[in-house]
Amino acid sequence: MLSDNKKAPRLMISPTLDSLRIFLHLLAAAVWVGGQIVLGGLVPKLRKSHPEALTTTAQAFARIAWPAFAVLVITGFWNIFDTDITALDTSYQVTLGIKIILVAIGAIATVAHSASPDKRVKAIGGAIGLLSSLVIFYLGILLSSAV
Ligand code: HEM
Repeated sequence: MLSDNKKAPRLMISPTLDSLRIFLHLLAAAVWVGGQIVLGGLVPKLRKSHPEALTTTAQAFARIAWPAFAVLVITGFWNIFDTDITALDTSYQVTLGIKIILVAIGAIATVAHSASPDKRVKAIGGAIGLLSSLVIFYLGILLSSAV
């Protein structure tokens, strides 16, 4: 018999709903942000060697990236509902507010990048989309380290 203050040894750490939530948020962030970085590196090469493949590549990426973005928004709100943000410092709420505004700006910039035929809009939209995603990623790390 084990006494009250001694727990039975566990083989490994038990999975929890919290860890599943963070796993899904991070997996989707990896696809959304990492995908943009990889595509940004591939496109200039592809433009030279196979320009006709650019549209198909961009469309194939969009079919993976936008569902990942939807998972980010859903698990992002799930994060908020699972955190008592009123009990946290105002700096947490301000950081979260900036993060949500940047998510909206990043989404609009990425839509403009994909939908516009104008080269300048494509370049600026793509740059804002990627930059905002990187800042959003970092703000997420700040939020998780404050809880
Ligand atoms: C482009 C979109 C997004 C990216 C790249 C992103 C990225 C991240 C990252 C990397 C973390 C750190 C995870 C951890 O270690 O705990 C995080 C945490 C967090 N994110 Fe996001 N996120 C995005 C969208 C959102 C949205 C839309 C919301 C809210 C509506 C949100 C709310 C949160 C919250 C509250 C945390 C802290 C979770 C915790 O540790 O309790 N995120 N995010």
